[in-house]
Amino acid sequence: MHDYGVKEYSTVPYTDQKPGTSGLRKKVDVFKQENYLANFVQSFLNVIKKDKPHLLVVGGDGRYFNLEAIQTIIRIAVANEIPQLLIAKGGILSTPAASHWIRKYQADAGIILSASHNPAGEDGDFGIKFNGANGAPAPESLTAAVYEESTQISAYQTADVGEIDLNEIQDIYLNKTELIIRDGVVDYVHHMASLFNFESLMQGFESGTLSILFDAMHAVTGPYARQLLVDVLGADKTSVFNAYPKFDFGGGHPDPNLVHAAELVAKMSEDEAPVLGAASDGDGDRNIILGKNQFVSPSDSLAVILEHHRLLPQFAEGISGVARSMPTSTAVDRVAASFGIDCYETPTGWKFFGNLLDDERIQLCGEESFGTGSDHVREKDGLWAVLAWLTIVNSLKLPVSEIMANHWARYGRSYYCRYDFEGINSDSANHLMAALNESLTSLAGQDFGQYRVERADNFSYSDPVDGSVSANQGVRVYFTDGSRVVYRLSGTGTVGATLRVYLEQYTAADGDLTGDAASVTKSLAEVALIIAKVEELTGRSEPDVIT
Ligand code: G6P
Ligand code: ZN
Repeated sequence: MHDYGVKEYSTVPYTDQKPGTSGLRKKVDVFKQENYLANFVQSFLNVIKKDKPHLLVVGGDGRYFNLEAIQTIIRIAVANEIPQLLIAKGGILSTPAASHWIRKYQADAGIILSASHNPAGEDGDFGIKFNGANGAPAPESLTAAVYEESTQISAYQTADVGEIDLNEIQDIYLNKTELIIRDGVVDYVHHMASLFNFESLMQGFESGTLSILFDAMHAVTGPYARQLLVDVLGADKTSVFNAYPKFDFGGGHPDPNLVHAAELVAKMSEDEAPVLGAASDGDGDRNIILGKNQFVSPSDSLAVILEHHRLLPQFAEGISGVARSMPTSTAVDRVAASFGIDCYETPTGWKFFGNLLDDERIQLCGEESFGTGSDHVREKDGLWAVLAWLTIVNSLKLPVSEIMANHWARYGRSYYCRYDFEGINSDSANHLMAALNESLTSLAGQDFGQYRVERADNFSYSDPVDGSVSANQGVRVYFTDGSRVVYRLSGTGTVGATLRVYLEQYTAADGDLTGDAASVTKSLAEVALIIAKVEELTGRSEPDVIT
């Protein structure tokens, strides 16, 4: 066996390697600085090496710098004598597929190269995130330890293994490391086949009950969706568009929401629109669900999946609980109550569902940020949500708009909207949140137009499984008519700060359920901006994105 030379290089720490909500995300230029990635990867290995990891999973969303980063990781992992590396062919591995691989092959951890839905390319963003042995995003204790290590690192090791061909399925032995290159799509498709009734979905496509338009947004889900929907389930060849991953995601912003998935939204309002429209984000964990002329908000999507969960083979025996992130609407709470099952409210970030899923307290969860998933992996899963909706539509044989109308007629409707103020000055954003926090106690009882504040607080979460406490997770203002406004700063941006204002206005089942969410929540939005003094403190009167 060839012995590749291993060298140790001295390095100086960077001070900005603190991971956010979903790993370390920076402009590509930042990652290209000397030793920037090497420092971070070595810091991660220094932390996890104490537990003698055997197998690490590595892959990414295909964006610019993905392949280069994987080569760097290989060189460092080999030098650090990691026994096995399972690497996705072509470097392509969606986030849910990575979670599945970690669990299936009992890996000790995963390294996922992605900045999710952030734009890609030379001038775009890059990111690196770690997942733990359960397949879930690393807990704060681990990311904090890696950050701590990154502030002290003085050297990294690298093995001179040259450029590895990642396009070939093969096993390569490099010093003490076995490099296993496998197709990242195949296992995922098998996993989906074990969860859903493919036979009946195939019949649905054949009979015309089902038809779909899936926008892969030039990102990682292209190969997954083509294989699943077209090759296996028999959807029409034209069903998947923007179906080939590009380094720059085609210059787009692969975030499946009403703004960035505008092409899909437009197609779903045409006469020949299929039964279901869907899209996923850069790394395949987010989803948007549309019917003909019908947008299903992510909060409603979660509630509808719970309403019909018994139609999904994996939940045929029922489920014991669900969870939603705090800013997500309370639609799912009402469905959970009707089934008499537990409903947990967690901070923003999929990682907070991990313990609840592992402890089997919940089997289904979701977030307003276009994330839906179940206990089949430990990440949200865009294509899983699409298959869940296909199953529901196929069984109920109703258009999505009727499924929604029936749902609201039974449970009432949480009209929901989110205002995003992007790229605001970080100091102003922090000041705004501090001022809001200070006003919390005095808000109760105050009237703002038709709205009276019932109570206001700052959300603190105490994990029922491990007892850990996450404080300061966003400000909640509740009104006496059942409406709610939530304020928090995004944890995923790379430029300045993003203020998110989440609006929820509840209409009971006997009220007007046919309104437009943006219009219905408009007066609540005006109040929300006054309460937080948004214009005064940020200079912004209009949000950049309303979704
Ligand atoms: C990522 C996480 C989600 C989270 C979202 C919040 O997508 O995976 O779990 O909901 O970030 O993003 P934000 O920008 O609002 O912090
Ligand atoms: Zn994502």
